[in-house]
Amino acid sequence: MKKIKLENRAVGPFPAMIVGAMRNEKPTYTTVGAGGCACLEPVLCVSLKNTHYITEGIVQSGYFSVNIPSVSLVKELDFCGIASGKNIDKSGLFTPFFDAADQAPMIEECPLNFLCKVCGSKEIRGFTMFFGDIVAAFAGEDCLTDGKPDPIKIDPIIMMGFSYCSLESVVGRPFSEGKKLTGF
Ligand SMILES: Cc1cc2nc3c(=O)[nH]c(=O)nc-3n(C[C@H](O)[C@H](O)[C@H](O)COP(=O)(O)O)c2cc1C
Repeated sequence: MKKIKLENRAVGPFPAMIVGAMRNEKPTYTTVGAGGCACLEPVLCVSLKNTHYITEGIVQSGYFSVNIPSVSLVKELDFCGIASGKNIDKSGLFTPFFDAADQAPMIEECPLNFLCKVCGSKEIRGFTMFFGDIVAAFAGEDCLTDGKPDPIKIDPIIMMGFSYCSLESVVGRPFSEGKKLTGF
């Protein structure tokens, strides 16, 4: 493959996430692409600009939620990445649900939800990378196959370059496809 040099910029793919937290006693939601799995233990991370409205909510409450929207929620996803809680009350955009009071709101309309308790943070160039232990996880009943989250039913949004994309198909199974390569 002939290689072309690009500018030093991350282009993805990134899973699209809507982060939820409480601020001023109301739910607020912010779109995040920078984050995901912190390690193979149940720890997620989200990187949020220090000046974002939601950031202080996470610092004060010690909790955040990570909500995975389906393709059908692309407008809401983008809205949460354009509008700031500093100027617009985003609390009515979704139906919130809670695992326990005083934690973080999760989004009923999103098929996958993770409630995270902050277990660490790292400042980086005006952003804070929050690490959170998953303390509760939920999936919409319709998005499970044999009791497990089904990627095609969940229909997550993947961001790459300046596009929102969907998953089209399952192309293989982890810890299995590699075994088909022989001769090494
Ligand atoms: C696709 C997309 C991805 C984004 N990813 C991030 C991110 O990873 N971290 C971040 O701090 N802001 C990110 N943003 C910007 C914030 O979502 C945006 O500034 C938002 O309005 C901040 O809301 P708040 O002030 O209510 O917290 C993203 C925006 C979009 C549209």
